[in-house]
Formats: sequence, C-alpha cells, structure tokens
Amino acid sequence: MSATSTSERSVYREAMRNKRLLGVAAIAAIGGFLFGYDTGVIGGAMLFMQKDLGLDTHGKQQLTVAILLLGAIVGALISGWAADRFSRRRTKITSGCIYVTGAVGCALAQSYWQILAGRFWLGLAVGTASFVSPMYIAELVPPRIRGGVVSFNQLMVTLGILVAFIVDWGFAPLPNNWRWMFAVGVVPGAALAIGMYFMPYSPRWLVQKGREDDAREILERYRFEDDDVDREVEEIQEVASEEVRLRELIAKGVRRLLIIGVGLAVFQQIVGINTVIYYAPTILKFAGQQDTSALTQSVYIGCTNVFFTIVAILLLDKLGRRFFLITGTSILTVALVGLGAFFASSSLQHAAGWFALVCLLVYIMGFAIGLGPVFWLMISEIFPLHMRGPAMAVCTMFNWGFNFLISYTFLTLTDVLTKQGAFWLYAFFGICAVVFFVTLVPETRQRSLEQIQSDLGASDEPLTRDTAHEREAVRA
Ligand code: BGC
Repeated sequence: MSATSTSERSVYREAMRNKRLLGVAAIAAIGGFLFGYDTGVIGGAMLFMQKDLGLDTHGKQQLTVAILLLGAIVGALISGWAADRFSRRRTKITSGCIYVTGAVGCALAQSYWQILAGRFWLGLAVGTASFVSPMYIAELVPPRIRGGVVSFNQLMVTLGILVAFIVDWGFAPLPNNWRWMFAVGVVPGAALAIGMYFMPYSPRWLVQKGREDDAREILERYRFEDDDVDREVEEIQEVASEEVRLRELIAKGVRRLLIIGVGLAVFQQIVGINTVIYYAPTILKFAGQQDTSALTQSVYIGCTNVFFTIVAILLLDKLGRRFFLITGTSILTVALVGLGAFFASSSLQHAAGWFALVCLLVYIMGFAIGLGPVFWLMISEIFPLHMRGPAMAVCTMFNWGFNFLISYTFLTLTDVLTKQGAFWLYAFFGICAVVFFVTLVPETRQRSLEQIQSDLGASDEPLTRDTAHEREAVRA
C-alpha cells in the first residue's frame, strides 16, 4: 500500500477516531477555501466593477486582478516570521481579521485606487492563511496523515473557486452585485478568526519556545494511546536544531530536487490556469456570450474542476503521479490549441459558438487531474524533512510569482499577440512542461525518500538527517 492512499484513508478514519482532528480538518478547509474563493470571485466581479470604478483599460483590469498575488507574496513573507515570533495560532487569527476588513474594503471601494488597496490588503490575508495553514496543520496532525491533508487542501481550493463562481452567478442580476460578491468573503474570514481562537498552539512552536510540557500535553490530546508522544517531541527538537539555511537548498545533493519543485511551480502557472480561473467570464464574453450565460458557464468550469480533482485524488495512488501529470498536461495543451483555433477562425466562431466552452472544460479537466493536485503533493513528498519547510516555501513563492506574472499580462498579451496568439503561447509552455515531466520528474508513488533521491542521483547526505518517524510515514 502506498503512502498517500494510506494517509488519505487515514485522514477520515483518524478524524472519526479522534474528533479533535475534525476541528483541525475544518480549519484546514477554511484556509484552502479562502484562497479559492478569492481566486474565483474576481472573474464575475470584474464584469460589473469595470463600469462603476472606471477600469476602462486592460492595464487597470489586470492590475486589479493581479495585485492580490503581490499582497499574497508579501503576506507569506511576513507570516513566516510572524508565525515563529507570535505563534501560528495568533498569526492565523490576525489573518482572519485582515481578511474580514479586506472583504469589506473591496465591497465598499469607490475608486480604482481604493479597490487596488483593498485587493492588496486581502492578498496579505490570503498569503498568510494559505502559507501558515498547511504549516500549522502539518504540525498538529499525526505524521502519517500529512499527505492526505495536502490533497484535501487542494480540493478545498477548488471548492472555494466553485462557490465564488456560484456567488458571482447568483448576485449578477442584483444591484451592487460585485460589492456583494466581495462582501460574502467576510463569512469564511470570520470563521477562520473565530475557529482559530478555539484551536491550540502548534506543538512545534511550543517546543521552539522551550515549552516542551505544553507541547506534550497538546500532542497527547491529538494522538492515540499507541502513538509515542515522547519520541515525537524528541524528533521535533532534532529537526528544529537541524533547520537548513537557504544556501543549503542549492547544495549539490538536493539541487535537482529543488529544480523539480521550482519547475513544477512555474509550469503550473505558465500553462495559463489562472487566466482561465480569473478571466473565465471575460474569455467566454470574448467568445460572444452575454454576461449571464458567461457566468452560468463559469459555474460549469468550477464544477468540472472540483469533480476531476476528486477523481485525481482517488486515483493518484493507483496510477501514479507521473501518469496524471503527463496525461493531464497533454490534454490541457490540446485544449489550448483548440481555443486558439477558435479565436483564429471566424467561421468556427459563427458555426460552433459552444466550442470555446468545450475547450475550457477540457482544459480545466486536464489541469485538475494533473498539475493542480500533483504539484502540491509532490513538493510535500520529494524533500527530506529537515529542508521541507524552506524548500516548499521557495516553491510556493515561485508559484505565486508566476501566477502574478501571468495574470498581470494576459489581457495585454491578447492585445499584442491576439487572443489566439496568447493561447498558443500557453500551449507552447504546455509542450515544454510535458518534456520537463517526461525527462526530469520521478515517480513518487510507493517510493521512499531514499529511492526518490537515488533515482535522481542525489547524494544521500541530507537523508541521514531524516527522522525514523518520517521515513516510516513515507513508506507506510
Ligand atoms: C493553483 C492555483 C489555481 C488552482 C485552480 C491550484 O493548484 O495553485 O493557482 O488557481 O489550482 O484549481
């Protein structure tokens, strides 16, 4: 039995055995959901806020979309420090509060500058929540179910996007529609702040602060009788004393792992996923749809995303990560070529208006079974424990940096290269991605860290610093 299928089943089984873990799962859910909601909500809101806030150029529209990512990057950087200094718990409560004020700020914005400020502020909270959430959860749940939590997070991101698309569609006919779309974000933000208030401090943070007894007490509440809590506290101490410096991430033995992680991060974005998520209604309007049907069809895209993410999570262990990565990215590349062909041919546009929607649905399916979940899963699997935190942080930063770049340039690209040119450019990146996966990315299913590293020809030096517990979890 492979690591993740065991861990996925365990997430549910263990949450049933220990109801406290349900609380952790709920907090995990809200972190991913918030990220997804803010990713999705702008698509529909943009159609209506353009007129009210004078977003009359592509430059203004794309900065309004993308500035959230700049906020997220800054938020993630600050929150890494805040999570160590003030605790993960207090940082997450603060991010929930920032989120609530950001949602209200966006909903009340009266000008271009105000919406930019509101979206940046919201981004700070999104960055903080989606950076500190996985860290906090990984530190609180038993090591053997960490893999399952990663996939669960991606599922919640897609669910957040879907709910945002439904909210956009539901409010569209009402006055002040876009303001309500943002305002709804207050609910998950408040749920995060209130929920975190009732959650404990992370055991790892307590150990870092020299409070081993408190850490032990919390671990005892979140573990079962057969778990060795003393051993876990020792391991936390060991790993904390072995934290790597950034320089060590590019050391010879692990450089290839970092190239793979960063490569996956960059390709996940440059195949254009967030042009589809942020601009789905705009793309459908380019294809000749009215506002309402563009929003209805965006809901289909959101449903397809959730459905195929579930399919992938259930099958990733049977068929392997590489299979889904390569198949999914090939499928989305074909869909991008089709989308470009649609915009290139006016006869196709007249004869088969539905073709653009079909291409978008096929595209999102390809992404949802491949790069969507597999990127996040793999970066949680390939790095040895003592460098996992910083290495994942670097990959996440690249992911958001390129997310910003792509969403900030999409509309300009459609002006400069034409619409078909923009989609064909993403298709070209899709081809490069497939070549990268085929030649460089190893299978991590049913493999221990040692096997993955020796497949890659990496030195085994970092592994000697891995803990026995972690190896067990990977091999389980
Ligand atoms: C990506 C996001 C994207 C989402 C879509 C995630 O894996 O990191 O950028 O919006 O998938 O489902």
